[in-house]
Amino acid sequence: MKKISIAGATGYTGIELLRLLVKHPEVETATLTAESHAGKNIADIAPSLRGWVDQTLVKLSPEVAQGCDVLFLALPHTTSMQHVPELLKSDCKIIDLSADYRLHDAQVYGDWYKTPHLNPELLSQAVYGLPELHRDKIKQAQLVANPGCYPTSAVLALAPLMKENWVDAQSIIIDSKSGVSGAGRKLKQTTQFCEANESVSAYGLGEHRHTPEIEQALAGAATGPCTVSFTPLLAPMPRGILASCTARLLPGTAPGAVTDALARAYAGEPFVRVLPPGQWPVTGATAGSNAVHLQAAADTRTGRVIVMSALDNLGKGAAGQAVQAANVMLGLPETAGLTTSGVAP
Ligand SMILES: NC(=O)c1ccc[n+]([C@@H]2O[C@H](COP(=O)([O-])OP(=O)(O)OC[C@H]3O[C@@H](n4cnc5c(N)ncnc54)[C@H](OP(=O)(O)O)[C@@H]3O)[C@@H](O)[C@H]2O)c1
Repeated sequence: MKKISIAGATGYTGIELLRLLVKHPEVETATLTAESHAGKNIADIAPSLRGWVDQTLVKLSPEVAQGCDVLFLALPHTTSMQHVPELLKSDCKIIDLSADYRLHDAQVYGDWYKTPHLNPELLSQAVYGLPELHRDKIKQAQLVANPGCYPTSAVLALAPLMKENWVDAQSIIIDSKSGVSGAGRKLKQTTQFCEANESVSAYGLGEHRHTPEIEQALAGAATGPCTVSFTPLLAPMPRGILASCTARLLPGTAPGAVTDALARAYAGEPFVRVLPPGQWPVTGATAGSNAVHLQAAADTRTGRVIVMSALDNLGKGAAGQAVQAANVMLGLPETAGLTTSGVAP
């Protein structure tokens, strides 16, 4: 059995990692860390884990990485980078769910996260953990930057079209609705029940930190830079992301070819489902699973393509994707621990 530890086990993504890992046939949990909840039992903080995990939470220290095969960092951004250099001194593989190692350029990180990167020399070492695009590099990596939830939905939707050079890379518009758990477990006014229930609100317009990550990932799939206009919206649901990704089709692209291109790009991928014609992604169908549902349509009147994408922000948008990457890094079957379907209704 491979030994897995989780730093930040009491947050939403940490709890989701544990929910998946207790059913994983080839791993066992070693250390679980927390900050304000250190010293308590995980089941007292995450009642859904009662009867499945019975472990006392400890504070994060360099020793946590010793003797384990993979350490997940489910920590706030800027916290991960305070610990990673020390943690990397062990042989342990690290998967960071925060944004600290996703951007290649420390200047871009500093501009968007409003703080200088503490170890920019590690940015070139970190591999962007989207297996559908970077599986071979993930296999070799010691440090994986797990993609953000919004970027995963948008990049999987658009990357095949960028690769084919079918869309104008300066015309991309992404409108994306997220469930409230995307903001984490800490208290915030906008995520309280009375504020979020039965209401949809926009936030972070023109300055959401996932914007440069989406642009970087799509530029990597295309032949040049991309500019993305990104509108994040908070939707009254605990989990889920529904992204509407549109772009101008370049002359000569047959509108009907778009769905075929998606199907071709993801043939054989265990978690990406390109839906049959006429069916559209819905968040509920992916909830609790590691699936991404995609479908596209060409709007011939405006000359634009629309790709819809649905996933669970805690699943393929965070913990599920991290487990998938861990499986790749450890040489395990990629679907191990991830075979559950969506919880619908
Ligand atoms: N939520 C999502 O849908 C989602 C999706 C993709 C990526 N992410 C990213 O994943 C990371 C975790 O997100 P989350 O939603 O799980 O956050 P969260 O619910 O706020 O949980 C944060 C975790 O980090 C611990 N922690 C907080 N400050 C710490 C510190 N200074 N030192 C050590 N541990 C500390 C907390 O411990 P205590 O509980 O003991 O305070 C808790 O376990 C974030 O970087 C987030 O951006 C989240």
